[in-house]
Amino acid sequence: MITVTGLSKSYNGKKVVDDLSFTMKEGKLFALLGSNGAGKSTTIKMMLSLVKKDGGRIEIPEDALLGYSPETPYFPPFLTGMEVLLYYGVLQKIPREKLKVECGTLLHLVGLSEEKTKIKFYSKGMLQRLALAQAMLGNPSILILDEPCAGLDAMGRIEMIELIMKLKTAGKTILMNSHILSDIEKVCDEGMIMQKGKVLRRFTKEDLRGGESLETIFTKTISGGIEK
Ligand SMILES: Nc1ncnc2c1ncn2[C@@H]1O[C@H](COP(=O)(O)OP(=O)(O)O)[C@@H](O)[C@H]1O
Ligand SMILES: [Mg+2]
Repeated sequence: MITVTGLSKSYNGKKVVDDLSFTMKEGKLFALLGSNGAGKSTTIKMMLSLVKKDGGRIEIPEDALLGYSPETPYFPPFLTGMEVLLYYGVLQKIPREKLKVECGTLLHLVGLSEEKTKIKFYSKGMLQRLALAQAMLGNPSILILDEPCAGLDAMGRIEMIELIMKLKTAGKTILMNSHILSDIEKVCDEGMIMQKGKVLRRFTKEDLRGGESLETIFTKTISGGIEK
């Protein structure tokens, strides 16, 4: 469904994404793993054309709708969650009569339906939930979630992962990253571990069934990684 080939990007002469290739399959969840600074968010932003690539190819079906939840969600602080979704929905040109219902459904789905609080009083977890609701506006078939579990407490994380599982069951194609490998282990179909913009290792759900946990695979891969 999405094919990335030979993607690269440099900042100030330093390669942060280096000849990266991967394929995301329809209806599957692909996990992008790596330590801070590995190039995950830059890769995501190039896929969304938010950052210009230096080279490589990104193939996304022309008619596919993409939803994106950024690593650090930011919304106008003086709005409520409902107002934020309505605002984004209008920008997406979702018909007004449908929009209110859709926003209500999405807020309910992410557990924010009762919230009358303004964004400036939102916790990090509430912002992450709203960011996911925003990503789902317009019912996109592809969801790109940059650290959707960051800042959530234990219960919030469990709920977020359950929600992501539900979205996968509903047929969404998902790209996500997280440092919580036990979460990734639960939801991913395949993925790759990156370091310094390069792929160190690819894995599938079947590799994880073999006994080694993702944490073990990750630690081994990173410690045997690219030389400095
Ligand atoms: N706009 C930018 N200008 C300069 N350097 C950047 C910029 N964005 C990211 N970088 C650098 O690129 C590298 C990869 O960053 P990023 O893609 O955010 O990594 P990750 O999401 O895996 O933590 C880091 O070294 C980061 O400092
Ligand atoms: Mg990042």
